[in-house]
Amino acid sequence: MNEENWSFDNVIDRHETQSVKWDIYDKELIPLWVADMDFRAPEPIINAITNRVKHGIFGYSYYFTEYYDAVLGWFKRHYNWKIKRKWLCHTPGVIPAINIALKTYSNPGDKVIVQNPVYYPFFGAIKNSGCQILFNPLISSNGQFQMDYNDLKQKVKDPRAKILILCSPHNPIGRVWTKEELTQLGEICIENEILVISDEIHCDLIYPGYNHTNFATICKDFAMNSITCTSLSKTFNIAGLQLSNIIIPNQKLKHRYRNAIQCLFLPGQFGYLPNTLSLVAFTAAYEECDSWLNSLIQYLHGNLKFLKAFIKEKIPQIKVIEPEGTYLVWLDFRKVGIASNQLEKFLHEKAKVALDDGSLFGNGGEGFQRINIACPRSTLEEALKRILKAVKEIQS
Ligand SMILES: Cc1ncc(COP(=O)(O)O)c(C=O)c1O
Repeated sequence: MNEENWSFDNVIDRHETQSVKWDIYDKELIPLWVADMDFRAPEPIINAITNRVKHGIFGYSYYFTEYYDAVLGWFKRHYNWKIKRKWLCHTPGVIPAINIALKTYSNPGDKVIVQNPVYYPFFGAIKNSGCQILFNPLISSNGQFQMDYNDLKQKVKDPRAKILILCSPHNPIGRVWTKEELTQLGEICIENEILVISDEIHCDLIYPGYNHTNFATICKDFAMNSITCTSLSKTFNIAGLQLSNIIIPNQKLKHRYRNAIQCLFLPGQFGYLPNTLSLVAFTAAYEECDSWLNSLIQYLHGNLKFLKAFIKEKIPQIKVIEPEGTYLVWLDFRKVGIASNQLEKFLHEKAKVALDDGSLFGNGGEGFQRINIACPRSTLEEALKRILKAVKEIQS
């Protein structure tokens, strides 16, 4: 692949591309909110789609052997996880997958544990399934977030608690949970018959010095007591192509899940049929884009260092919660001197930037903002300069 194609510094105008990130707010705002990147996807993905488009016939497709080989190869290469083809189910996204899982494995009135502050569509999925949310808040000491196992041990005793949604790596606080942390959580869940839905959508975006552990690889008991939601949608910026691989080693759980998918989508012997363009795009992504991913991680790491240095030097009232993975950074604005319920308005109206307001992520998010750093460095710099100017104005 040509070096030029890795030019993450290129600013590409995304206005009027029906982009949720860019076309929803006023054009004046720099949008660093929803989790997609302002980079072109790797060339092999674009080529695969282009070639398929040129063929010109877009009838029904099926998950062909090359697709499965590509998926299995990815997990073996990157995680040494030898997954089997029969463990896989496909959905048009991880949030659809979690909705289906909750409908399949819970009964209305059951309780589902989440570790807030956390990716807010989990809350909607729990409500959609008629369940209740049981919060197991993360605890923070010295700016480092951790799981609260004592609280979890209490929560799992609730007779209606049935499922825990694990966010791994964690959005928005950016922790890449260690094997030891996941083991402690997994053991509590096994002892108390709590099924784990492990959302690992961000697992490929890990900063140097950290390693992602797939929850189901820790031991056989965890594999049998979990479903893992994965996709390359974040990894290669192809969320709009809508394809996820849900890994379910426990075949009893897998059959129930597959039945649910068949009822929701196209019932029949083939289950959920793929979108023709997604299928070729994801096959290329699983097979041909490893070196692009390495370059992306280097660039994101550069952006993270840039953000930390800028804030430390120029806006020290803001505290950066340093992520170990993901391109999302949790910023603590509580010392800036703006009421938490005014923060979003302040950023939109005074700084002209759109971030994700912390309060969306549940209790513990008030006074925080989540910034998406997957953009050219010049865009990030401009957004930070605007925040700096606006903060100076209120403090003068
Ligand atoms: C933790 C997490 N899960 C799921 C999703 C969304 O997944 P999908 O677009 O596949 O539904 C996101 C998107 O930001 C996310 O951060």
